[in-house]
Amino acid sequence: MKTARKTMLSAVQPTNPITLGNYVGAVRRWPQYQSDYDMVFFGVDMHAITLRQDPAQLREQTYRLMATLIAVGLDPDACTLFVQSHVPQHAELGWVLTCHAYMGELNRMTQFKDKSGKAGANIPVGLFAYPCLMAADILLYDAHRVPVGADQKQHVELTRDIAVRMNNAYGGDLFVVPELFLPTIGARIMSLQDPTKKMSKSDPNPKSTVFLTDTNKQIEKKIKGAVTDSGSEVTYQDDKPGVRNLIDLQCALTGQSPDSVLPQYVGKQYGHLKQDTAAVVVEAVAPVRDEVARLMADKGSLDAVLKKGADRARERAARTLARVYDRLGFVPPRSG
Ligand code: TRP
Repeated sequence: MKTARKTMLSAVQPTNPITLGNYVGAVRRWPQYQSDYDMVFFGVDMHAITLRQDPAQLREQTYRLMATLIAVGLDPDACTLFVQSHVPQHAELGWVLTCHAYMGELNRMTQFKDKSGKAGANIPVGLFAYPCLMAADILLYDAHRVPVGADQKQHVELTRDIAVRMNNAYGGDLFVVPELFLPTIGARIMSLQDPTKKMSKSDPNPKSTVFLTDTNKQIEKKIKGAVTDSGSEVTYQDDKPGVRNLIDLQCALTGQSPDSVLPQYVGKQYGHLKQDTAAVVVEAVAPVRDEVARLMADKGSLDAVLKKGADRARERAARTLARVYDRLGFVPPRSG
């Protein structure tokens, strides 16, 4: 029997190493959706090349991302897990959507403004057209829900606009119009060096950010070197953002509330808090990191898993693309 489960879809650029902030705020929740949703998750290498990449590094990071998704608990048998470039329909539908998006609306994308500002004199056209490829990613799988960070909200809204526009132009119900899904869960993890800023992969100060690839020693060093606040009493309040960040981190990973952890620090120094927080972070990160290393050491098995995911994705994507080509009036290729 066909299940009536809704499709949840998201994608990650392999060039974005996953930080402790991403892990706590989003990534670790993804496996929990597997039983309720038909999940489609992929690594978007074709998005990554909107800015110039080192080929060897891109390949390695793509494997690492896919291994990480598996290591955090996305089950390749229960969901559709693949690499974007293995499914040519993304580029094909991307072109169709590029022809239905408007210069004006793409011009309003704040991420384009940010990134093109940093790209120098030669701004790749792909950087501008990128939201059309992202819309194709989403619409190919009839996705209902798209969990993304706030920085991607505008792109999902654009996807909805294009979907509605094409539904109106080509006889209705061509595309499922996706819902934005901004999971608001728990605290935002802040930079360890400036706790008024979000923890970010691109922070110029490497001590600000814990990555899922960090060794236990590196994690301990970063947490122990975290900027705290003046005073010495461990309290949870707005004017102590550094201390609060460590408490938030601990609570997010252990499921405790600030009220329940605070009493153990009465009369104790920040050093105790840092030590405990470092231990909790190591306990969360180490098993994921070690599992990624194990998966990365056997690329053959990883390739086989990715092949299965891509085969499944291609079949679904081909159905959607055939529907779109038919509505557009493309002559179907003869079979046989
Ligand atoms: N643009 C997203 C980012 O930079 C990644 C992405 C590509 C994506 N395609 C997607 C996210 C489809 C959700 C759905 O983070």
